[in-house]
Amino acid sequence: MSLSNRLIIFDTTLRDGEQSPGASMTREEKLRIAKQLERLKVDVIEAGFAAASQGDFESIKSIAAHVRDSTVCSLSRANDRDIARAAEALAPAERKRIHTFIATSPLHMQMKLRMEPAQVLEQAKLAVRFARQHTDDIEFSPEDGSRSEEDFLCRVLEGVIAEGATTINFPDTVGYAVPEMFGATIKRLRERIPNSDKAVWSVHCHNDLGLAVANSLAGVMIGGARQIECTINGLGERAGNTALEEVVMALRTRQAYYNLTVGIDTTQIVAASKMVSQITGFAVQPNKAVVGANAFAHASGIHQDGILKARETYEIMRAEDVGWTANKIVLGKLSGRNAFKQRLQELGIEMESEAEVNAAFGRFKELADRKAEIFDEDIMALVSDEETAQENEYYRFVSLAQRSETGETPTAKVVFSMGGKEYSCDGEGDGPVDAMVNAIECQARSGAELVLFSINAISTGTQSQGEVTMRLSNAGRIVNGVGSDPDIVVASAKAYLSGLNKLHSKIERVNPQTE
Ligand code: KIV
Ligand code: ZN
Repeated sequence: MSLSNRLIIFDTTLRDGEQSPGASMTREEKLRIAKQLERLKVDVIEAGFAAASQGDFESIKSIAAHVRDSTVCSLSRANDRDIARAAEALAPAERKRIHTFIATSPLHMQMKLRMEPAQVLEQAKLAVRFARQHTDDIEFSPEDGSRSEEDFLCRVLEGVIAEGATTINFPDTVGYAVPEMFGATIKRLRERIPNSDKAVWSVHCHNDLGLAVANSLAGVMIGGARQIECTINGLGERAGNTALEEVVMALRTRQAYYNLTVGIDTTQIVAASKMVSQITGFAVQPNKAVVGANAFAHASGIHQDGILKARETYEIMRAEDVGWTANKIVLGKLSGRNAFKQRLQELGIEMESEAEVNAAFGRFKELADRKAEIFDEDIMALVSDEETAQENEYYRFVSLAQRSETGETPTAKVVFSMGGKEYSCDGEGDGPVDAMVNAIECQARSGAELVLFSINAISTGTQSQGEVTMRLSNAGRIVNGVGSDPDIVVASAKAYLSGLNKLHSKIERVNPQTE
């Protein structure tokens, strides 16, 4: 069986990535990421799970209408309702794929589905047959594949290929696989299934043991898979999925070994990473491969000396090849509207109307009055904050006064609006952030619990804006609020209110893995 040496990159940041607790995104945010994925030239964008919620349905529809260069895909469980919903959401797409799945491991079939294997086999075949009525591009996944029995997998996969599945995706749903075994299983399945050559084989690995990238590459090299499913920054359920940036740069840097090509424009990787991190509030660890702030930093004298003499001494990739640029002061107080608009375009930020550009320019001017140098990251944060505010306006930040002094109890006065009515509330606390939250809660009484607080400098230097993520939990729901400002207590107040807005919007989503 001869295999192509072109590998398909299937990005599932907007579906599996969004399943991370707190990572849910709005329609506008998803569209912005989808456009960046298109610039990155991913082959397939899994835009969501249409049957999960009305919001997910609308997001997929809007991505299907705007993305032209990548195939747009929706996940669906193996039932007619989910598949019909996926097909409806994908209708505007130039190229569309329906990805249907059902669990095949004994544990999942007995405990979760409460179905006999014969019923699962039948349902899988019926689902693919039904999906074929809507598109020719059908992907099927046997969920929990790496813990499924091989004989049963052979029957199911042969059956769905006979019904017209064009991609067979083999998932390591719980991140249990180890590379050599995982690759060998896919190889055996491909050898044992008589019609296996009628489909492209794919891998979908979770990172519970930190092996997602290694398993994916073994699935390709040993197993013969020609599609890798991955996410930006490795976002995803629990410990996440295969990180796109890692797997792509491994293939590219070790091209002579892998002898495989991908269509990715690697110079768009860092922009994609920053956008996903900014929108979801999931910070990228500094020592993260490829996209971490330290990935190309050399601290030790010996390394610095070596790099200056010949960069290859300690660098196996070039920072600019993945899109790292020196922090540039791009704009300042005196920059005009045209320069601002041009920079938005260069950053790939599309505004729908001139009124939107004007509003963004107004906010930029406000920021430039308070901060001498405006970096690309500042502009991205400004746009991100405004999109969040526009979508969920129940709570809105107005102003904050705060006081703290060694030996004194910190106090805060926060002015904010709730349901259109403005409130001015005072609070005190153990620290300035605690005082600010207490002030808001005097009136909001949300019952939310703060489960994670993180703050990052958006650019370099003490004049950098702080970007705060606050993960809030209430009645079993977890959301991430994000806010940025040169004043970190104000950034925290914005993040807290953005989290309350998300809790208030009560977007209910069904998780595909929960029947
Ligand atoms: O991890 C998994 O099994 C999945 C499937 C839906 C492909 O995400
Ligand atoms: Zn998954």
